[in-house]
Amino acid sequence: MIKKLKKLCKLGQLQIMNLRHNCIKNIIDGKFIENSFPQIKDFLIKGDPGLTAYNNLGIEDYYNYYYSYGRYFSPKNILEIGVRYGYSLISLVKGAQESNSFSSAIGIDNQSYESGSERIAFDNIKSVTDKFKLINANSQKIGNLKTLVGDTRFDLIHVDGDHSYKGCLHDLNITKDILAENGIIVIDDIFLGSCRVFQAVNRFLKDNATLFDVQILNCFRGHALLRKKIIGAVSSVG
Ligand SMILES: C[S@@+](CC[C@H](N)C(=O)[O-])C[C@H]1O[C@@H](n2cnc3c(N)ncnc32)[C@H](O)[C@@H]1O
Repeated sequence: MIKKLKKLCKLGQLQIMNLRHNCIKNIIDGKFIENSFPQIKDFLIKGDPGLTAYNNLGIEDYYNYYYSYGRYFSPKNILEIGVRYGYSLISLVKGAQESNSFSSAIGIDNQSYESGSERIAFDNIKSVTDKFKLINANSQKIGNLKTLVGDTRFDLIHVDGDHSYKGCLHDLNITKDILAENGIIVIDDIFLGSCRVFQAVNRFLKDNATLFDVQILNCFRGHALLRKKIIGAVSSVG
């Protein structure tokens, strides 16, 4: 399954899985992805058990994507579900700072991978900005994110928490309403295991066919980028 998806992705033919709603678009051009992001090394936590897998693949060639999204999409407000030690959030924030757009970030994590990870993430992210908040919560129990974030609308949301089909689909459903128009959702690990996350993205797109464009990126374990259409553009499309 993964091989098949990766092959389709490489051939630019992944749209055959989404043919009904024809929403595959070029949201970011590959030339805007930095080749590497070596600064991430300054933020890696010594003894982090999660790093073993990355080390073999080159960690700076993974977080370069997040850094590039921050630079390219110039988000003001960033939300992340699944923070762990803060590596991806730091990379996004650094990129957004680079483009002079950054205003604030919120991270949600229930510390189910590692108890105490929030404290580590807090100290780590604080070395980059003090304009952030971490919320210790199980996203699966959140029905309406507005009760947590108020009226803030996010320009970039990273979904990297519960990697089950149901869990990811839930996270996409609760984030879509707090995403700004033209805002981006990045979903990590779409090719992980038996591609449950990819299936969730596909389901979400079927349910929200006219609202989003999508691009699949063949990096590490795969990213899906969803871009929320602007309302005028949605009604003119149909
Ligand atoms: C893959 S790690 C995130 C890695 C991080 N985004 C990075 O690249 O630096 C997934 C995180 O999601 C959190 N998580 C898993 N299920 C969750 C849930 N239902 N609600 C909130 N957080 C969850 C875990 O505690 C873990 O810290």
